[in-house]
Amino acid sequence: MDLLMAAFIVLWIITLLLTQLRAFSLHSHHPRLLPVNTTVTVHREETVILECAIDHLGTKTVSWRKLPYITPITTGVTRFAQDSRYEAVHVPWKKQWNLSIKSVQLHDAGVYECQVGTHRKMLRQKITLHVIDAVLFRKADIRITGTQFPEKGGIMFLFCNATGRKHAPNRIDWFKNGERLFSDRSENMSIKKTISIDTGVMTSSLVITDVHRRDNGTYVCRATSLEDETLITSLKVNVSNGGSSYPKRDVTRTDTLESSTAQITYMHSAVGLIYLFLIVLHLVW
Ligand SMILES: *[C@@H]1O[C@H](CO)[C@@H](O)[C@H](O)[C@H]1NC(C)=O
Ligand SMILES: *[C@@H]1O[C@H](CO)[C@@H](O)[C@H](O)[C@H]1NC(C)=O
Ligand SMILES: *[C@@H]1O[C@H](CO)[C@@H](O)[C@H](O)[C@H]1NC(C)=O
Ligand SMILES: *[C@@H]1O[C@H](CO)[C@@H](O)[C@H](O)[C@H]1NC(C)=O
Ligand SMILES: *[C@@H]1O[C@H](CO)[C@@H](O)[C@H](O)[C@H]1NC(C)=O
Ligand SMILES: *[C@@H]1O[C@H](CO)[C@@H](O)[C@H](O)[C@H]1NC(C)=O
Repeated sequence: MDLLMAAFIVLWIITLLLTQLRAFSLHSHHPRLLPVNTTVTVHREETVILECAIDHLGTKTVSWRKLPYITPITTGVTRFAQDSRYEAVHVPWKKQWNLSIKSVQLHDAGVYECQVGTHRKMLRQKITLHVIDAVLFRKADIRITGTQFPEKGGIMFLFCNATGRKHAPNRIDWFKNGERLFSDRSENMSIKKTISIDTGVMTSSLVITDVHRRDNGTYVCRATSLEDETLITSLKVNVSNGGSSYPKRDVTRTDTLESSTAQITYMHSAVGLIYLFLIVLHLVW
């Protein structure tokens, strides 16, 4: 009887210990969120990785969604969103279930949530994504556009657009025959710079009203940026003697060649008008 009693007590203690141990192990093996960066800032076009790290995930799955939408972007490593820029990045046996977004755009900014459903409650990790409206690294570029063949007495308009790799250039200059050009009202030359921080483009416009034969030549545009990049390009300007005749006659005749050339001349005068308008704008500004 005593032996039976003792055996019973031992068994009871073992059972108690086992249940305690089980409860303890269950508790300690409950999914748990590990600390991650909750605010992430990237530039447009970059790839961003939103991190979610979970301990003791067990058989549970991790979902990502973007607030306020309910539908998950990814669940486990499966993508539900149509947008193929999203990818759930997970390496077996690792704790991270990251969300990767390629070529981030401004509309991607917002709050993302990594969630794990447990039988007790939903674990949620919110991560705020900020997107800076600037591209971090692009191809440096410089180009001149404008009136390559101005007429004597006419208007010449040159644009030099320079893009730095990281920032907009901080300096841009025009040269001709090795000499730097400056705005000079008496010479009818005006140089203006504009800078777009967002697109990283610096533009310098060079305008000559009343073009002379001496304005003929090679125009060099040079831009330098804070990173000491030097961008340089040139354009050969060929001043023509002018004397173009504007159409005065009727162009209703069915001579296709004639009418098409007439149209081109009309277009030239339209372009001239636009230039004139731009010049006025330029000088008034
Ligand atoms: C958080 O971000 C900073 C800078 O982006 C980085 O240096 C740091 O290692 C990150 N911390 C974690 C826990 O990922
Ligand atoms: C998840 O992202 C973090 C932070 O960027 C990184 O350290 C970790 O290696 C990533 N994990 C995986 C599985 O890619
Ligand atoms: C250069 O910049 C001007 C003014 O910002 C713009 O009108 C023009 O389209 C640009 N040209 C090129 C080739 O990007
Ligand atoms: C500047 O333009 C005005 C009017 O178009 C003209 O009279 C003048 O001679 C020009 N100056 C030079 C230096 O070309
Ligand atoms: C400008 O220079 C080009 C050669 O570079 C030449 O063919 C053209 O006749 C010149 N125009 C004038 C008005 O001197
Ligand atoms: C300049 O234009 C004239 C005709 O207007 C042409 O004969 C000459 O070849 C051009 N020169 C250059 C360098 O383009």
